[in-house]
Amino acid sequence: MPVLSRAALLPFTKALVDFHLPMSFDRLAPFYRAMEFFTAGGKLQRCRTALLGEIPVPIRILLAGEGHGRTLAAVMEKFPNAETVVVDSSAKMLEVARRNVPTGASVEFVIADLMTWNGQTGSFHLIVTNFFLDCFTEDQLAIVISNLERMATPEANWLLADFQVAEGRAAGLRSRLILALLYVFFKKVCGLQTGKLHPPDAALVQAGFSRQQRVLSDWGLLKSEWWARQQAK
Ligand SMILES: C[S@@+](CC[C@H](N)C(=O)[O-])C[C@H]1O[C@@H](n2cnc3c(N)ncnc32)[C@H](O)[C@@H]1O
Repeated sequence: MPVLSRAALLPFTKALVDFHLPMSFDRLAPFYRAMEFFTAGGKLQRCRTALLGEIPVPIRILLAGEGHGRTLAAVMEKFPNAETVVVDSSAKMLEVARRNVPTGASVEFVIADLMTWNGQTGSFHLIVTNFFLDCFTEDQLAIVISNLERMATPEANWLLADFQVAEGRAAGLRSRLILALLYVFFKKVCGLQTGKLHPPDAALVQAGFSRQQRVLSDWGLLKSEWWARQQAK
């Protein structure tokens, strides 16, 4: 059997490392909920919903990059009279999310790229981006936040749950390690273009929002934040 030299294998190894699938969460959709349960238990759901009870009751809600619909379930329970629009680029994720919606509920599902989706300007009282803004490069983040804020009302609220690099030596190291593993995984499996986390704070401030409340959990790795376009009285 012929033995390939290391030099002969190098181009194949490089091609394998450089190979990127087009960005899509479709291939993960059937396993996403189970994956979350086995890796994080209820931590992410607690993070998603930590500040839901703090904000004013919204009339129209945009769930951006909502994926498999866990925030949707909590939002429908908390704000049963709101009109909710769920937008995600993954048809398979939305298929999973749709399963939890009772017939007659005021929920619209849209399969679209939120960097370009042309939703109605100034029409959402609440924007929710849970574990979504971490999917983007710095340039993409500026584009997606600017598109979302365009669709928000002048006094909109914005809830976000996400990962962050924790403060402190041990917690910081732990969070960097977890984030590095997560990005390697999501880059390879979902074709994410970014390999690192870009905090959205500067873009949100630029869009006229200021942070009202913040809850940290899991050694500072997880954050739940409430931002508002106008200072809460
Ligand atoms: C990491 S998952 C998070 C899902 C969910 N929000 C949660 O709390 O677990 C990111 C979601 O954002 C969606 N997504 C990524 N880039 C997108 C884009 N440009 N436009 C719309 N959805 C996007 C993916 O399809 C996926 O469902």
